[in-house]
Amino acid sequence: MLRRLALAAAFSLAAFPALADRVRPVTDPETQAACGECHMAFQPAFLPARSWDRMMGQLSDHFGDNAAMAPDKTERIRKVLMEGAADTGGGKAGSKALRGIGSKDVPLRITELPRFQKKHDRIAEREWKRPEVMSKANCPACHKGAEAGLYDDD
Ligand code: HEC
Ligand code: HEC
Repeated sequence: MLRRLALAAAFSLAAFPALADRVRPVTDPETQAACGECHMAFQPAFLPARSWDRMMGQLSDHFGDNAAMAPDKTERIRKVLMEGAADTGGGKAGSKALRGIGSKDVPLRITELPRFQKKHDRIAEREWKRPEVMSKANCPACHKGAEAGLYDDD
């Protein structure tokens, strides 16, 4: 079993040379379920810890939706997100995401970060509006490996 896992890992490394640049995926099942209900569970490395902290404090007013949950669950998920954030456990992807953000800024949208805008500036307005995309936040529409943290696949 272990050997088979190791082999599988070796193969996927060969198939995805970009795996080194992989954005650490959400592995906590509770966070995956709760934050993957309405959209994909975004990787914590895309926002600084202060952003996750604020977002988790206002879930009843979450981008026009009510995403509120029990307080103990909110706290556990807040911890997971803050530990994996751009400025904490987010690794290389995290330092990239922080580029251009002021130390006092508390961005709540990944799609409004300077880094996101820079990487997507060649995408025409009509591409975002395609029925299979609809929102910039719909990462998996264009990045098939988004849930696994793979973004330079196209
Ligand atoms: C009840 C549905 C719902 C749940 C549950 C939910 N969200 Fe959202 N979330 C939304 C909606 C709606 C948007 C706005 C999407 C858009 O603009 O396309 C959004 C947007 C976001 C964005 C900004 C995306 C961007 O534009 O960069 C982040 C980050 C986010 N959610 C994180 C979370 C986290 C973390 C959780 C779990 C604690 C969560 N969401 C749970 C509905 C939800
Ligand atoms: C309409 C399609 C589309 C959507 C939706 C989209 N992207 Fe992208 N993204 C692209 C394309 C195309 C590129 C490649 C740009 C390039 O290679 O220069 C890209 C590049 C990236 C990169 C840089 C990869 C690298 O290392 O070069 C990251 C990170 C990324 N996207 C993250 C996201 C995230 C996170 C979301 C959702 C919040 C998202 N994208 C939504 C099309 C999209």
